[in-house]
Amino acid sequence: MTDERIEDLLRGMTPAQKAGQLTQYFYFQLPGEADPALGVDAGEQPRAVEAALGRGEAGSLLFVTDPDEINRLQRLAVEGNPHGIPLLFGYDVIHGLRTILPVPIAMAASWDPETIERGQAVAAREARAVGIHWTFAPMVDIARDPRWGRIIEGAGEDPFLGAAVAAAQVRGFQGGGIIAGPKHFAAYGAALGGRDYDEANVSEYELWNVYFPPFRAAVEAGAGNIMTAYMDLNGVPASGSHWLLTKVLRETWGFEGFVVSDANAVKNLETHGFAAGPADAAARAVVAGVDLEMAVSEPAYAHLPAAPQTGDAVDASVRRILEAKLRLGLLDRPYVDADRAREILADPQHREVAREAARRGAVLLRNEGDLLPLDAGRLGSIAVLGPLADSKRDTIGPWVFDFDLDETVTVLDGIRGAAGDKVRVEYAPGVQVSQRVFPSLFDMFGGNTPLDPEGFDEEAEFARAVRLAAASDVAVVVAGEWQNMIGEAASRSSLELPGRQLELLQAVAATGTPTVLLVMNGRPLDLRWAAEHVPAILDIWYPGSQGGAAVADLLFGAASPGGKLLFTWPRTVGQVPIHYAHTRSHEPQNQGRRYWDEQSTPLYAFGHGLSYGRFTYDGLTVEPAAVAPDGVVTVSVEVTNTGGREAPEVVQLYLHQRHGRASRPVRELKGFERVVLAPGETRRVQFTIGPAQRQYWHPAERDWVLDAATFDVWVGGSSTAELGTTFEVEDR
Ligand code: BGC
Repeated sequence: MTDERIEDLLRGMTPAQKAGQLTQYFYFQLPGEADPALGVDAGEQPRAVEAALGRGEAGSLLFVTDPDEINRLQRLAVEGNPHGIPLLFGYDVIHGLRTILPVPIAMAASWDPETIERGQAVAAREARAVGIHWTFAPMVDIARDPRWGRIIEGAGEDPFLGAAVAAAQVRGFQGGGIIAGPKHFAAYGAALGGRDYDEANVSEYELWNVYFPPFRAAVEAGAGNIMTAYMDLNGVPASGSHWLLTKVLRETWGFEGFVVSDANAVKNLETHGFAAGPADAAARAVVAGVDLEMAVSEPAYAHLPAAPQTGDAVDASVRRILEAKLRLGLLDRPYVDADRAREILADPQHREVAREAARRGAVLLRNEGDLLPLDAGRLGSIAVLGPLADSKRDTIGPWVFDFDLDETVTVLDGIRGAAGDKVRVEYAPGVQVSQRVFPSLFDMFGGNTPLDPEGFDEEAEFARAVRLAAASDVAVVVAGEWQNMIGEAASRSSLELPGRQLELLQAVAATGTPTVLLVMNGRPLDLRWAAEHVPAILDIWYPGSQGGAAVADLLFGAASPGGKLLFTWPRTVGQVPIHYAHTRSHEPQNQGRRYWDEQSTPLYAFGHGLSYGRFTYDGLTVEPAAVAPDGVVTVSVEVTNTGGREAPEVVQLYLHQRHGRASRPVRELKGFERVVLAPGETRRVQFTIGPAQRQYWHPAERDWVLDAATFDVWVGGSSTAELGTTFEVEDR
């Protein structure tokens, strides 16, 4: 029945209408004139798009979020299209639409699939209410280079964690009623030097074992869409790669949804020096497997009608787009209820989900002498310091467009709200985040927020902040990066705290007032000094619109931190790339001697993160002790909270294959579970390790293999877990 409807439509379509169905236009509701950053004229572009709608030659739009406007454009499309085919509205709903959740890396740092799923379901509910059918998320690119700004959009360095987070996000978005579009296929995070959009050269061994697993997990979770990557992968642009988009994605993994190019990536096939021109780019992209072209300006797919040899590929792509529309119910109900949308956007429960996600994602890096949680009952005064402490725009992070700053709770607001009347809370920014302003591609949605650049007397402000710290019982310093220093097209060549923030931190700590550092970031920063001298360090990321309230919950102990690092935190940028799952590669005694001028170890290990509890691990067992290559073992461990407070802990399992057909990483995450334990409580946690966890893709066999070998297994609270045992996989 459904197929017939699609076939009927297809039969009646002209080549130009088919090409139109395969085109997605940016529709900017931007104030102002031409935007040089995007090369788009904000006045001309909407007119051109509306003309295409009138001709029935547009399949999808992006960047419209107002429900009345969506209905208006939808009407133009339905009435303009001879078959009444409605538009698919797509948008970057990355960490919330109106309710801003913590940035994706923060949600992932909860290591809690439920939190992630719930958060993205809220984002989806808001999006669907306004008429958005599909999000360009989750970004599931593995990121092993923190210079790359888009590390903030993903789940860090590890394929196993990345796969779990990818699947949770797909369930959240799609359960909430919109199509999820995992991106950017594939290996976009491996850009040379961490420079966004630069080429990636990744061995097949790494592609299959490291970069692909989150995509595969997203496909298995039912993702309806995949977005291609911009860059050249091993010499071929990812957006023109038949191997990636058809051989791997469709033929090997059985993906049945539709593929969209990244913005302008089809036309860019020419820029790469791959396609001869836009017509060649269009023909090769559609044959490679790009169903829908995301076009910033003139679409390349307008050339498809002149390329009859692409007919079958075009028809297959049109079918996929129509199927998506049919499944969403759009062919029957294209419009939205704008009043209902406004109610949903205001739902207070959504704010509660955002606040809980921010609490769960924060990572307590250090807590000497149990400085945290603060006891509000015993404190007379708190100095809140640093320019990010009261910046609403920075608190919500990059990749948000429809936020409401009025409802954003900064760290200062949160502390003021939670400290109670008896505690004097005073604020001094002290310094600018940076003396330089960093222009970003997304500044039209809020760029740097310098503190009154004309009137800000940094010497006087610095001194005032230090005086305030000296006169207070505790100092809370918020330091990090402006939100537009990270994200797309925001790579950095240094990981240092920008501007004079470190200097401020040092001067504050030197007053002798107990100091807490809150790090506002999306990438690891150089915290070598703080890690030795500042007793408490809490990574709060960009915690979202309820972030300040969540941070106050953690500071005063209404909740305990329990997030864990999802990347290896380098000491300095010179150690990059540094990830825990490397191979041994030489004698163990030389592991610590890789650099002449710096230790080989990171500042903080992958999986590290403290809480207000204290956890011990005991009674590790593996059963049976030996299995056949297809056998499954059960690993079990007892975790006890010996501390005095209820707290979460992420129990992590790491595996190592001692010998085999390849040298395998010293450790690989193969299981995790977030538990919450009361003081004195013990919980037995179990994991199963079967062929799926032991197999790896072998470079010479060019296939997945399972070796008979001795395996080490460790269980604990980070990748440096010491409690370990072994089991055997026997060749029987
Ligand atoms: C980004 C994508 C994004 C798209 C649409 C591109 O520049 O790479 O991740 O979805 O723009 O905003």
